[in-house]
Amino acid sequence: MGRIMIINGSPRAPKSNSKKYAELFMRYCPVPAEYFAITPQNHESLCEKVDAFTDILLVFPLYADGIPVPLLNFLKTMEKTPPKQKPRISVLINCGFFEPEQNNIAVKMIELFCRQQGYPFGSVLKIGSGEAILNTPFKFFATQKLKRLAISISQGRNEQLKVTMPISKKMFVRASTAYWNDYGKRNDVTPEEMATMEIEQP
Ligand SMILES: Cc1cc2nc3c(=O)[nH]c(=O)nc-3n(C[C@H](O)[C@H](O)[C@H](O)COP(=O)(O)O)c2cc1C
Repeated sequence: MGRIMIINGSPRAPKSNSKKYAELFMRYCPVPAEYFAITPQNHESLCEKVDAFTDILLVFPLYADGIPVPLLNFLKTMEKTPPKQKPRISVLINCGFFEPEQNNIAVKMIELFCRQQGYPFGSVLKIGSGEAILNTPFKFFATQKLKRLAISISQGRNEQLKVTMPISKKMFVRASTAYWNDYGKRNDVTPEEMATMEIEQP
């Protein structure tokens, strides 16, 4: 029977959407799965554990159209300290924008890593509107796909899955703009201020 090592590569792993997706995945997973979050200190110890698993599921957000830095650094450590048996690597990625296709480049980055390092590549679930979907009545659409991903990985299949909210882009932009404007208002920040780089300054 397979055994899945779930690795969260979000920079805010303890409070991340990726963690929520990983938890839902585990709820539906028919084979044993264990959850780990990447920290700057635990790369080596995670690499030592890999041999106990048949599969790795990398769960992470899209950051600037690519993979987040904690995951990139972890992959560098995996290059230096590879396991004896290379497990199949699957991907569960979520992004803030509406279109699941926004995640394509980041998935290709992982595929390239697998090809260069000799890991079999497994299944993929690309989630669009990933920041929002779990807090809407459309959560069901995401959980259905998470269930399918879990079955797909447990059966050793290579499936490409995607999901987003079943609304128009126009509705998504309208709803997300209202959400962020309200969020800014609650924190005394105007839409104009949010549109500048100064928003990052202390
Ligand atoms: C620095 C930063 C860069 C981001 N870049 C993108 C991006 O290029 N495209 C996108 O759709 N979402 C982007 N997002 C949104 C995240 O992918 C989204 O909020 C995701 O749900 C975060 O997941 P996490 O909580 O697991 O970290 C970005 C978020 C941050 C903070």
